[in-house]
Amino acid sequence: MSETEQTVTFWDELTSPINLVLVAIIVYLVYKIIQSKFESDVEVAPPPKPLPKIRKDLTVAELKNYDGTQPDGRVLLAVNGTIFDVTRGKRFYGPGGPYAAFAGKDATRGLATGEVAASDKEYDDVSDLTSDEIASAKEWEEQFREKYDIVGRLLKPGETPNKYSDDESEDKKSQ
Ligand code: HEM
Ligand SMILES: *[C@@H]1O[C@H](CO)[C@@H](O)[C@H](O)[C@H]1NC(C)=O
Repeated sequence: MSETEQTVTFWDELTSPINLVLVAIIVYLVYKIIQSKFESDVEVAPPPKPLPKIRKDLTVAELKNYDGTQPDGRVLLAVNGTIFDVTRGKRFYGPGGPYAAFAGKDATRGLATGEVAASDKEYDDVSDLTSDEIASAKEWEEQFREKYDIVGRLLKPGETPNKYSDDESEDKKSQ
């Protein structure tokens, strides 16, 4: 008997059924680990390039174009006459987002009254709001000032846009 035991070679060990199964499992797991590493590399895609900052005053009609449905996906909204670039908050205001009703709109009344809706008036002078509602709108405006870039002023009918010099914007462009 000892004679046969001695003739069991490494190759015999490797090719015994149980070891073949174990080798196959190891090969499979190594393959899975490599594959998952590869997949997570693909998932960590470079973040989308931020859009260039814009600085301009817009009418209510012009503001409407920036509701996130344009090719560049930029989203603007206005609070009490100040237009903010809320593109970074696209998950809130972008198409299908919970606050998409504010995208490209004057959101003052909605934010003041707690209704996720924007008026389609030519211009909403929110002079009828209560002091509580005004306070609420001011709080929102403060939050937007901290989080988002200011684009300009929302123009009342008949108002003319300000000229913002290149020097005012942070990334200067030479023309
Ligand atoms: C049941 C009621 C509501 C719930 C549970 C709720 C919940 C939330 C949550 C979880 C966020 C995300 C916060 C974050 O991730 O930073 C958010 C954001 C926001 N909510 Fe509401 N909300 C409610 C009602 C409202 C109403 C009535 C308004 C306005 C009329 C409103 C306006 C907003 C806005 C503008 C943002 C985005 C703020 C930003 O740009 O950072 N929400 N809300
Ligand atoms: C809007 O701004 C004006 C001028 O700064 C201020 O008097 C008014 O209370 C503001 N209204 C709201 C709703 O924030």
